[in-house]
Amino acid sequence: MTGVELHRGPPPVPLVGDGERVPCVDGEQRPYLSCDAAASTPAFGHVLERVEAFMPWYSSIHRGAGYKSQRATEAYEEARAATLRFAGRSGERDLAIICRNTTEAINHLAYRLRLSATDVVVTTVVEHHANMLPWSRVARCRYVECAKDGTFDLADVEAALDAGPPPRLLAVTGASNITGFLPPLDELIDAAHRRGVPVAVDAAQLAPHRPLPREADYVAWSGHKMYAPFGAGVLVGPRALFADGDPFLAGGGAVDLVDLDEVVWTDPPDREEAGSPNVVGAVALGAAIEQMEAVGWEAIVAHDREIAAGLRSALDHMAGVRLLGPDVSTETLPVATFEIEGMPHSLVAARLSAEHAIGVRHGCFCAHPYLMRLLGLGQAEVEAFRNEVRRGDRSRMPGAVRASFGINATQGDVDRLVSAVAELASGSPAPVAYLQDPRTGDYWPEGGAGPSWPGAFRDHGSTCSPG
Ligand SMILES: Cc1ncc(COP(=O)(O)O)c(C=O)c1O
Repeated sequence: MTGVELHRGPPPVPLVGDGERVPCVDGEQRPYLSCDAAASTPAFGHVLERVEAFMPWYSSIHRGAGYKSQRATEAYEEARAATLRFAGRSGERDLAIICRNTTEAINHLAYRLRLSATDVVVTTVVEHHANMLPWSRVARCRYVECAKDGTFDLADVEAALDAGPPPRLLAVTGASNITGFLPPLDELIDAAHRRGVPVAVDAAQLAPHRPLPREADYVAWSGHKMYAPFGAGVLVGPRALFADGDPFLAGGGAVDLVDLDEVVWTDPPDREEAGSPNVVGAVALGAAIEQMEAVGWEAIVAHDREIAAGLRSALDHMAGVRLLGPDVSTETLPVATFEIEGMPHSLVAARLSAEHAIGVRHGCFCAHPYLMRLLGLGQAEVEAFRNEVRRGDRSRMPGAVRASFGINATQGDVDRLVSAVAELASGSPAPVAYLQDPRTGDYWPEGGAGPSWPGAFRDHGSTCSPG
């Protein structure tokens, strides 16, 4: 014994597809390193097994007398119960609506709350567009500003809640998809409730990393960000909100009786799930919840903290790299968004991919107002870029590069990303030329020893700037 305590974090959980090899420009195939968990995660093995086991029993649900329909209905309802358990709710007061994803869940809620153009929703400039645009089209948004480091605190939100006219809702993210910033959710919810204001939490980023806030009135999240990429998401809220009035989607499955001039809507949650539901997606999401429960929050959070600390402090100390967001001593999710001095974000992402087999996200991350603030861009600059984009030229789109990790990450993965970024930041010349496509803003390697990427890749683009 040396007397030195070696810290051993909890073991990461492998995901489907880990270690698949992909081509690089030097002709080598390398194991792919996904640093894009904040966008979408591969599936848990348990999820895939559960889906495969379910497929022979797949059938229509809720409207079939056959054995398979009964069994599929049971699987779907078990998954719904799992989402309520995951959100810390009993099924008596609250219900879970299975939908496509967080975006749909928040649009659903925005429709159901029946706000009017003069109603105020307090939200923040940190939000993903999914928790901004649905509110700004049905109500007046009062935005909580962030500081230069991309954070806000309880007092900022309290000031917005106390300004007149009184708000109808606080809509806030559980965690930022750009900086990993974790707003003080419990305090915010408590402050809003003391003022009689209900709270909707966008938990898209929170769900795979931290327990969902039990006291929030409404919570929305997506299966594909928590290891169940089969197209299901959830909206949880009080049953009472959905008991009366038109559902968000009208159609079959949502009704008890229809005549040509009258409709009797059925009880929620079926009332809110018109059309044939995504049964496989729900089963997958239920299985992901089971797997996360088996690992446990203590291990998940400890792993996250270790990965976040290693990632963010390495990038923070790196010459030529600027880490955006809060100080590294602040707890965040394992997400790091950064710029390399003098190198466009789309070129950084292209080189990490083509030379190192590392997948990152680059661009504006579907949270344009937040990223513009983090980059310190003024209105005039933003307007100039906007005009260029309107002319179809994305070559100077502002943006940054984001590396984000999930439950499968090891410190070795972080080291591999960090050393690739260090190589680029040191000015090491590219082994091949990269040409930019002004239509998408993407850079593409030209030539090289290996098989070049299919030309078809280029049409789709890879920057998230259109988001
Ligand atoms: C914080 C946040 N909210 C909402 C969303 C939207 O999620 P989805 O695309 O699954 O609807 C995302 C996706 O990146 C996100 O990061």
